[in-house]
Amino acid sequence: MFEHLVKEYALKKAPSTVIPVGVSIEEVKRKYGLEQVYKLASNENPYGVSPKALAAMMDALREGHLYPDSTRDNVLRKKLAEKHRVGIDQIMVTCGAANALAYAAETFIKPGEECIIPSPAYPPYYYNVFKNDGVIVDIPSRPDDMMLDFDKILEAVNEKTRLIFICNPNNPTGTAYPGHTIFEYIKGIRKDIIIVVDEAYIDFTDDSEKDTMINYLADFPNLIVTRTFSKIYGLAAIRLGYAVACPEIIKYMNKSVAARSLSNIGIEGAIAALDDEEFRQMTVHNNKVERAYLSDEFTKLGFKVFESQANFIYVDFKSNCQDLYFKLLPYGVMIRGDFSNARISIGTHLQNEILVRAIKDLNDKGQL
Ligand SMILES: Cc1ncc(COP(=O)(O)O)c(C=O)c1O
Repeated sequence: MFEHLVKEYALKKAPSTVIPVGVSIEEVKRKYGLEQVYKLASNENPYGVSPKALAAMMDALREGHLYPDSTRDNVLRKKLAEKHRVGIDQIMVTCGAANALAYAAETFIKPGEECIIPSPAYPPYYYNVFKNDGVIVDIPSRPDDMMLDFDKILEAVNEKTRLIFICNPNNPTGTAYPGHTIFEYIKGIRKDIIIVVDEAYIDFTDDSEKDTMINYLADFPNLIVTRTFSKIYGLAAIRLGYAVACPEIIKYMNKSVAARSLSNIGIEGAIAALDDEEFRQMTVHNNKVERAYLSDEFTKLGFKVFESQANFIYVDFKSNCQDLYFKLLPYGVMIRGDFSNARISIGTHLQNEILVRAIKDLNDKGQL
């Protein structure tokens, strides 16, 4: 009915996103008579919310009748600036990293300009380019190891290129490069090309302090790094992320914000989360142990597991992933089945064991 009225971007569809919608945990429980269903599909923190953040957010709720005190944003920005050893004017706090990515695209992509997206990719990159009438230049990752193909990315750069999305570690493959390798690859790129490095999963790499491209901001005025509190601090529902860039870029990106969208609850949660070193370290440690456990189990069964530095793994089960998604539901496990391989979030040990048992059972029955 409104097809002829909507803007062109609203009619476009990102490649490889056919997520089986509409299946909720409650539905799966009812349908299969299960007491527990484990969602290993959205790369959430399986250990819950950072306890320090939770306590701060409970307190903040008492002020829920008041509009947020925007001066608290600056407290968070100052804390982030200290953590990353940058100026406070280099930090923009956003409603999830998702919004930081959207603001970067909105600020820089003009109609017809090319944006390089290495694939498979986090689907919102595509929509951000569509929405701003940019042109997507798709660069497939290397098929053997699913590493981003930087040689091809560099070859694709031309005079129309305006922006490059780099996700490190990459979603959905989990593969990652050390920061200095990315530096070597991007150092020759023209400074009028905006390089967005999405570090939603950087906390899970072997050496996140070294790997972050925030260390290289002084060399790249054209670099925007995005981060999130959703994964490492278990604040996915709270919607808190940020961008780090040079002051001029942050100034322009701030123009994208029509009205203040951050809640006092999120801000207080994030301020407290940054002090929750115990929870952060526990999450990183357990993720590493469990990632190795799942990778070993699936490798032993003869399936290819791509080398992951994230809180999920990408596995070639040699079967249709959407079918696999539905076959796992009766076992009480939900994975992500809309990419060409299965993307599995690392759960607690109990959750991971249930998944391994389910995969073994399907494999034994010849149903994979
Ligand atoms: C690669 C990547 N970037 C950004 C985001 C968005 O994070 P946020 O929850 O902060 O919006 C996600 C969320 O899953 C993600 O996977």
